[in-house]
Amino acid sequence: MTDTSRIQELRDQLHRHNYNYYVLNQPTISDQEFDALLRELSDLEARHPELFDPNSPTQRVGSDLSNDFETVRHRRPMLSLANTYNKEEVRDFYERVQEGLHGETFEICCELKFDGLSISLHYEDGHLVRAVTRGDGEQGDDVTANVRTIRSIPLQLAPGGDWPREFEIRGEVLMPWTSFEALNREREAREEALFANPRNAASGTLKLKQTSVVAERKLDAYLYYLLGDDIPEDGHFENLQRARQWGFKVSDAMRKVRTLDEVYAFIDHWDTERRNLPVATDGIVLKVNSQRQQRSLGMTAKSPRWAIAYKFQAEQQSTILREVTFQVGRTGAVTPVANMDPVQLSGTVVRRATLHNADFMLQLDLHVGDHVLVEKGGEIIPKIVSVDEAFITSERGPKVEFIRHCPECGAELVRYEGEAAWYCPNETGCPPQIKGRIEHFVSRRAMNIDTLGPETIEDFYRQGLIRNVADLYELSVDQLSGQNDTRIRSARKTIQAIQDSRDVPFERVLFALGIRFVGETVAKTLARSFRDIDTLSRATLDDFLQINGIGRVIAESVIRWFADMDNIFLIERLRAHGLQFRLSQQVLDAQSDRLAGKVIVISGVFARHSRDEYKSLIEQHGGKNTGSISKNTSFVLAGDNMGPAKLEKAQKLGVPIVDEEAFLKMIED
Ligand code: IVH
Repeated sequence: MTDTSRIQELRDQLHRHNYNYYVLNQPTISDQEFDALLRELSDLEARHPELFDPNSPTQRVGSDLSNDFETVRHRRPMLSLANTYNKEEVRDFYERVQEGLHGETFEICCELKFDGLSISLHYEDGHLVRAVTRGDGEQGDDVTANVRTIRSIPLQLAPGGDWPREFEIRGEVLMPWTSFEALNREREAREEALFANPRNAASGTLKLKQTSVVAERKLDAYLYYLLGDDIPEDGHFENLQRARQWGFKVSDAMRKVRTLDEVYAFIDHWDTERRNLPVATDGIVLKVNSQRQQRSLGMTAKSPRWAIAYKFQAEQQSTILREVTFQVGRTGAVTPVANMDPVQLSGTVVRRATLHNADFMLQLDLHVGDHVLVEKGGEIIPKIVSVDEAFITSERGPKVEFIRHCPECGAELVRYEGEAAWYCPNETGCPPQIKGRIEHFVSRRAMNIDTLGPETIEDFYRQGLIRNVADLYELSVDQLSGQNDTRIRSARKTIQAIQDSRDVPFERVLFALGIRFVGETVAKTLARSFRDIDTLSRATLDDFLQINGIGRVIAESVIRWFADMDNIFLIERLRAHGLQFRLSQQVLDAQSDRLAGKVIVISGVFARHSRDEYKSLIEQHGGKNTGSISKNTSFVLAGDNMGPAKLEKAQKLGVPIVDEEAFLKMIED
């Protein structure tokens, strides 16, 4: 036998053994035998570099080379699902489907909702050619090299199978509980930050630059959606059974049902049974089985009308409250935090839970030593739901009170009208507020000074080098470095990054200042409307209220900020350091009033720009984007798959439909 054919034979064998082991959980040879075959292949491949194949079983171990992710546009957008939280909402879905299909009979495919990150896999001639993350649904990262290390994903389908020449299959990449726990144990030993849940761990892993590290992390994947032009069956369930035969890992938990009672039974079964699964799930997915019926039901802008997710209730556990501590954030808001006996909850150990604010905390009527019920939804931060009354005895510990003074600086706390939080008013003297503002200022979406992490800021603050953001621009290499060479190098880098931030455009500087209620979007609106900081600083309440999207709360907050002399001095210092306090000529030039007075609804899926880009184009040209069609709508900017209800409404009200090409012409010079 020639080397070439032996290589081919070994690859085929190893693909099959991989499948038996990782997909079927039924190995037919021992690990030693497997390793021996793999070694033989690896040796042969080393002698024949001309026969390299990225999909060879030897490539599953990854490489140490850095791997960059290219952004690619999805051929078909990756939509998400609308969520439901109770059986009434499930019934509403079922009835909507019934109505949408005008009484035709239909089947529902019930599936588990896996809690990982979605992935799109492309196969051509039976080979995995591309794997892309969901990203924003329109474009994602090409993570093929990392995905090749996932053993349960076939790199090459068994020859002779009835798979289409070209297809896409979507599913969820997951980190099984056992791998997740092992990973966190290792990280704890190395004093590295722990992953909050397997989803974060899986998504962090898939974005790693070194495929060899990805290979060690033991990811898994379940596939749940087959797409393409030559899909064998009309039934979604039937297609997935085929996909299973082709070598994909498809969940056994899928069931095809007809009645609502059967749907409920599936939900009830898995609501408890899911605790015994090796991977995290956060609900059930219901899909109309027939693709012909799916097409006739269509989709809304965000999600299909033929499918829905039912989310499980968050898991709860009982534990003992030991102490309540208080955290001061960047805005001075004080958050009460419960410190409890450690308890295992949805796969992680929980010791702390947020109590949100004074009202929430007082409503619970907490006493130290109480048994409390802790809950963790999909969120990372757990919360206390109630005191477990079964355990309340006559000798309860002391009642937990909200504090009156800032735990960090001692200032008396204040409460602003209409707000739940208590605030420390000592903005310029309270350490966590000062540090928090600096952290916000340097963050990626603000000034993007990425060499300054929270520890460095803490360090500079403790040394007395920085008290506000203007101090950053006066730091010198000498102050930061000391003697050591690497430290000098990193100090130079830091100073350079700070200096470079002077080019950051005005709207982001405005956001970076951290004025309350001035988030990214508001900062953009204010920058576009007032054009420079001096005009903004003189604006009156009426000036603000003229602007679309700016209300009283924002206006008053900005006015209050500019009334504080400390802030005026701060601006003057930053200006002296060369920061941008007016809109750039480029942005001014790009603005026009071609869409002035126009109210525009966006609907469907677009090819040339994302929905967000269209939204900002509308704003840049003086138009207004709204969500639903009314008689005031000037036109609908429509992409593919515009919802039939919207279309009907537009036609009824005589609202014109404009496609993306025509729209782009409208705003062209
Ligand atoms: S189907 C158009 N099936 O849930 C239908 N999704 O909010 C697309 N997910 O982004 C999705 N398990 O990451 C589908 N059995 C399942 C799923 C599932 C988990 C995730 C997926 C999607 C999100 C939907």
